Amino acid sequence: MGRVLVVDDERGVQESLRLLLKDEHDVATASSVDEALDALDRGGADVILLDLVMPGRSGLDMLRELAERGDGPPVVVVSATRAIPPAVEAMKLGAIDFVTKPFEVDALRIKVRQILAHRALEQEVVRLRDEVAGRARLGRLIGRSEVMRAVYRTIERVAGSRANVLITGESGTGKELVARAVHELGPRRAAPFVVVNCAAIPEPLLESELFGHEKGAFTGAHERRIGRFEAASGGTLFLDEIGELPLALQAKLLRAIQDRTIDRVGSAQPIPVDARVVAATNRELDKEVAAGAFRADLYYRIHVVPIALPPLRERREDIRLLADTFLARVRSEAQRGPRVIAPAAVTALERYAWPGNVRELENAIERAVALADGESLELADLPEEIQLAARSDGLREAVRAGRVDLETAVARFETDLIREALARTGGNQTRAAEQLGLTRRVLKLKMDRYAIGSAEGA
Ligand SMILES: Nc1ncnc2c1ncn2[C@@H]1O[C@H](COP(=O)(O)OP(=O)(O)OP(=O)(O)O)[C@@H](O)[C@H]1O
Ligand SMILES: [Mg+2]
Repeated sequence: MGRVLVVDDERGVQESLRLLLKDEHDVATASSVDEALDALDRGGADVILLDLVMPGRSGLDMLRELAERGDGPPVVVVSATRAIPPAVEAMKLGAIDFVTKPFEVDALRIKVRQILAHRALEQEVVRLRDEVAGRARLGRLIGRSEVMRAVYRTIERVAGSRANVLITGESGTGKELVARAVHELGPRRAAPFVVVNCAAIPEPLLESELFGHEKGAFTGAHERRIGRFEAASGGTLFLDEIGELPLALQAKLLRAIQDRTIDRVGSAQPIPVDARVVAATNRELDKEVAAGAFRADLYYRIHVVPIALPPLRERREDIRLLADTFLARVRSEAQRGPRVIAPAAVTALERYAWPGNVRELENAIERAVALADGESLELADLPEEIQLAARSDGLREAVRAGRVDLETAVARFETDLIREALARTGGNQTRAAEQLGLTRRVLKLKMDRYAIGSAEGA
């Protein structure tokens, strides 16, 4: 079922075509080129059946106009003329077929069916190609959880606009990856993506870093310098850790965003800039606003579209996929390493709290691959804090299930922690006690109670 637009000045022809096609398709009719163009503007069509000779503008005129507009529906010319030149002209102007009146009913019906099927297929290919391209550009972002899918949808929705985006989330949740995806998926992808980390640049340098300076603007300004705002013109400016921006610069940034002009340091000549601003922070900016540390007007300007990235512990269903992907990546880079993650290790990864989020997981896998010597990455290859969390989790379950009493569980937990502290300090009891927040005497008592040898860890 498609939308067919019949353009013919003769009512009789309009009517017979409508009768012929109406069971299979949505048929609209127009008596002139102007009417037809109106109908197209209002609702579009999937195929046009076009007469050539009509009062006013001719079918060829319509073909010319459609060619100029580009991207119109396919046109089949249906004409009483048997002369060759108009037919050739029509084909040159982009008509895909030429049918003479009176037409063969079945042949025309089949032709329309074929054209519509072909068009549907073409549109499907375009849609799939876009989807694949979109996916490739979101590609470095991993995660199939509902929260991450919602994040992808937002990225896709805003990428095409120039709305300012504020990305929030704990450290290591992927804020920079998301900022890059917003840039890569949008029309600015060929222009630069410029990063300014507001926390990493010392305050006195930040203004000239952002807005540039003129030669001689301050001691040491030997040459004119283009700031990152200007460098990002046409592209995207990523302001990382925007919560760290000093108040004085917040005012200048607000102006740059509002008026789309900047002043280089040492110049009063405003320079137009066209950078889309994407900002990120791991602070709660609304609280900073309430506390007077962040300008409310700037806050409203930059968080037109907020994207909140969930901490990893709130999307545990993604942990396994992330871990497997990182493992495969490290393996292919190092040309060695385990192929799989042992079930006990997977469980530990899925249970751990991940205060450092995806970055911590990525580092943990990298380290574990370096340590692992078999075909599988074992629990023992993972960083201690993850192993410990797994063990204490196991203990907690055992206590809950009544298999272990509380006192035994606490004793085991203490034993583990003491052994680890001794291992970390190479058996130095004074330092181990310090790390555990105990006096050396209390540590010694506990070691005796749990039968931990004084040579352990050494
Ligand atoms: N969803 C994800 N899929 C794949 N890799 C991710 C994802 N999120 C984060 N990472 C990886 O984790 C690391 C940290 O990501 P990123 O630098 O984007 O985090 P961030 O939120 O900007 O952290 P910070 O606040 O510390 O700057 C990067 O190596 C990134 O590739
Ligand atoms: Mg970052």
